[in-house]
Amino acid sequence: MYRTHNCGELRAEHLGQNIKLCGWVQLKRDKGGMIWIDLRDRYGITQLAFEKTQISKELLEKVNNIHREYVLQVDGEVIERFSKNDKIPTGDIEIKVKDIEILNTSETPPFTIIDDTDGGDELRMKYRYLDIRREPVKNALILRHKIAQKTRQYLDNKDFIEVETPFLIKSTPEGARDFVVPSRMNPGEFYALPQSPQTFKQLLMISGIDKYFQIVKCFRDEDLRADRQPEFTQIDCEMSFVDKQDILDEFEGLIKYLFKSVKEIEIKGRFPVMSYNEAMEKYGCDKPDIRFGMTITDISEIAKSKDFMVFNKAEYIGAICVKSEEEFTRKQIDAYTDFVKTPQVGAQGMVFCKYNSDGSLKSSVDKFFTQDDLKIWAEQINASPGDLILILAGEKYNTLNALSELRLKLANDLNLKPTGTFAPLWVVDFPLLEWDEETKRFYAKHHPFTMPYEEDIKYFDTDASKIRAKAYDLVINGVEIGGGSIRIYNKELQEKMFKNLGFTKEEAEAQFGFLMNAFKYGAPPHGGIALGFDRLCALFGGSESIRDYIAFPKNNAGRDIMIDSPSKISKEQLKELGLKI
Ligand code: AMO
Repeated sequence: MYRTHNCGELRAEHLGQNIKLCGWVQLKRDKGGMIWIDLRDRYGITQLAFEKTQISKELLEKVNNIHREYVLQVDGEVIERFSKNDKIPTGDIEIKVKDIEILNTSETPPFTIIDDTDGGDELRMKYRYLDIRREPVKNALILRHKIAQKTRQYLDNKDFIEVETPFLIKSTPEGARDFVVPSRMNPGEFYALPQSPQTFKQLLMISGIDKYFQIVKCFRDEDLRADRQPEFTQIDCEMSFVDKQDILDEFEGLIKYLFKSVKEIEIKGRFPVMSYNEAMEKYGCDKPDIRFGMTITDISEIAKSKDFMVFNKAEYIGAICVKSEEEFTRKQIDAYTDFVKTPQVGAQGMVFCKYNSDGSLKSSVDKFFTQDDLKIWAEQINASPGDLILILAGEKYNTLNALSELRLKLANDLNLKPTGTFAPLWVVDFPLLEWDEETKRFYAKHHPFTMPYEEDIKYFDTDASKIRAKAYDLVINGVEIGGGSIRIYNKELQEKMFKNLGFTKEEAEAQFGFLMNAFKYGAPPHGGIALGFDRLCALFGGSESIRDYIAFPKNNAGRDIMIDSPSKISKEQLKELGLKI
């Protein structure tokens, strides 16, 4: 037997017992007559004690040859610790070691394996297997495991069954870019890795599986950010004989259960439901962080009254009202102007209006507007003395987007995002289609199988941009945690949808023929949702980066720097695949 206990297990109640432990050397301290070693494994740290005059020469020699990250097996007695350490659960005891076996040696690790490490990001990723020995990384993986287990438990209890779907599938141009895999046996042809199991889960509904789920890898070749990885995991679900409300109920239940069972947080009441239009008008984005206010007010009507051409020319003028304990300095306001003008925010400029405590108003456009004009704005925005009003103008959706960015920046700067507070909501009634000026065609906002509201179907022939979809997103603290929809299950409606997306009959048939064909054999009404599992883990763990919750993530260039991938392949491999570079 390698060990009787693990390194996080021994307590005062074990005093006097003979035990065996295995683990890694975290730290060795040599102080006069004593040597101490902190032995670490997944479960914790136990202190080993060696009194130089009390141990054999052989043992002392072995101990002298032990360094950081050596793998040890120790045999000893649990004794009371002289100076107790109340920071660790094993802090009342230590091991009086009788014998040691060095199971393996270790080179000096490239960074110190402690919580607060000296290793930079790249170095830690290159040696990720060592990084995972660190407590915060290990705990992130344990949290991920727990959320997965609880999810399986909840869905199993609700009669969902987990079905695996293939990874080598067919490339479709909708959505993000596919990762493609050449087929050796079918030269010149390619598989694609699934962006999600979408079509398969719909087929499983036609199969009568009724309630499906899968914790599944998805692959998307898109630009990466803190909350995006090229391969990521979804909690993917689909249900038959349901409408929108059934899905919202079921998955609100799952989220509440996860908060309760994993974080011991009770989320009371129903999640608020907000239409896409309301989210855009009030927050400037479809994933609003509702932990704080500072909502957007449309002042287009009232701000166009004078000779200020920037406003007069603008399609839309929006304002946010900033409340702060301390008055903003001119320098701070200028910094926000610079911020909104950065390319990623994209505004032309910013107008400000200070509501002074004496009731007067001071704006950057005093040349054009009187005190009375400014008072009307302040009233519309619900501002009070002491507040700062920030105004952006331009094309409607670009301006809303810029206001959203400004709102989030201000919330960060003013500390309006309390940690440990979770504000979930459903965003619903997304537009079914989105017009693209460049290609002059509609794209599916969600995907081509999304069901429109029955009462909106008439707009297909007049103004298709008006059609609302039975689609929904789950948003928590400004993060899009999940999304889904009720699906079209009727062949004629599906054909209409493809037609509006600019597919010819033949194109639709070539890409989705298998699904359209299946619809001929009694497809039940169905719908589903997919939750971004990595994002959920990061949210629960209190981090903005999903990389911390993935054992072996890719960097922002999509590279795994540990295994050095992607990499070139040999000429022979290329030839076998019928490929030329
Ligand atoms: P959608 O594309 O909205 O829906 O994806 C669902 C959720 O997956 C997460 N997500 C990602 N997480 C990390 N990295 C990425 N690159 C990434 N892309 C998406 C998000 C998102 O909300 N088949 C549909 C679902 C359905 O209709 O049932 C789908 O995949 O949290």
